[in-house]
Amino acid sequence: MTDPAQLAEQVIARCRKLASFSEDAGSLRRTFLSPPMRDVHQEIASWLEPLGMKVHIDAAGNLRAVYAAQGPSSRRLIIGSHLDTVPNAGAFDGILGVVIAIALLEALAGERLSYAIEIVGFSEEEGVRFGTPFIGSRALVGRLDESLLNARDSNGITVRRAITDFGLEPKEIPQAAIADDVCGYLEFHIEQGPVLDSLGLPLGVVEAIAGQSRLGFTFTGRANHAGTTPMNLRQDAMAATAEWITAVERHASTAPGLVATVGSVHASPGAVNVIAGQVRATLDVRHKEDGDRLGTVSCLTGFAKAIARRRMLIVSCTTNLNQPAVVMDPLLTNQVEEAIRKAGCTPHRMVSGAGHDAMILAEKVPAAMVFLRTPGGISHDPAESVSMDDVAKAIECGLHLLCQLSSSPKFQTRTFRA
Ligand code: GLV
Ligand code: MN
Ligand code: MN
Repeated sequence: MTDPAQLAEQVIARCRKLASFSEDAGSLRRTFLSPPMRDVHQEIASWLEPLGMKVHIDAAGNLRAVYAAQGPSSRRLIIGSHLDTVPNAGAFDGILGVVIAIALLEALAGERLSYAIEIVGFSEEEGVRFGTPFIGSRALVGRLDESLLNARDSNGITVRRAITDFGLEPKEIPQAAIADDVCGYLEFHIEQGPVLDSLGLPLGVVEAIAGQSRLGFTFTGRANHAGTTPMNLRQDAMAATAEWITAVERHASTAPGLVATVGSVHASPGAVNVIAGQVRATLDVRHKEDGDRLGTVSCLTGFAKAIARRRMLIVSCTTNLNQPAVVMDPLLTNQVEEAIRKAGCTPHRMVSGAGHDAMILAEKVPAAMVFLRTPGGISHDPAESVSMDDVAKAIECGLHLLCQLSSSPKFQTRTFRA
């Protein structure tokens, strides 16, 4: 099968099949090296083996498989995205990029290019299980360090332990790093926002990815009886957190392009008749300008301290991520734009507000991203979807791009940043 329309139908069916491998009954959640990740690896391997590709799971849990070049070329293009999900996820965030990559190889129908293609299904991008994202892609750029290996999930399991429990060897993580045979990285991903849908365009090309900060805040007050403690004698951690959350929302609403989210709150002890003594809350701040993002983080941290002080609470804060904004490779991005045109679409250049593995790979190799329109702009939700026609256009665009790169000596001699 090489017809993009038929392949697109198969891509969507495959994404839906992979969405059935979940930690939760009745909804999709697949975090770093959780048991259903093994089912995903097996299913994907069963699609790659007929293409003559051998699947290998590296020590960071990334699925990897190489489609050999025509000749003895040792140059390689990586096409990938992530296999993990948020809780109550949709079926396309991340996984679509891996499944489209496989469809591209199927569409080649045995034809070999002047460079090899490595498919990578990253083990972790969302940061759900350990609070820190990009565990998989960090291993490829040699940045999966001791402190991240020692990070713990809510059950006290470290990243290192999760790796050994999955049957992998943390000592082999350095071997997962890419070397100077990789000449580029390409990622297909749903836009996860409303821009392409509102413009009526199937495909976009990412120019830059906004930087992200992720922090954890703990407000500590005094747990006490909800019936007997007068309102003026409370140190209510929940009320302090609520005041701070509305301050975060108000502040972020004043600056165009700035987004700030308190997405998770845990109150202790968490009972209807007990004033909360402690609340743990997360903060996610994004902006395409790193200075604006860092300024916002410091301002919102200041708000937390001022609110805590006035209410006679203590607040502490930890930074789990300070990921700078990243510009995609101009040469590869121009090639993507040309390929989108050849597929009969108008390319729309845009900044991604969502984080992607491409922003990590860009540290070492030229990286580019193709966005697919997301109906209604809905993502990180079971209603997330993608249209069959748009997937077919993405496959057409990908085939043009592979062909363009095959005849581009400039691309294949791009240098890897050690
Ligand atoms: C990943 O989906 C992110 O949070 O941007
Ligand atoms: Mn994603
Ligand atoms: Mn996501």
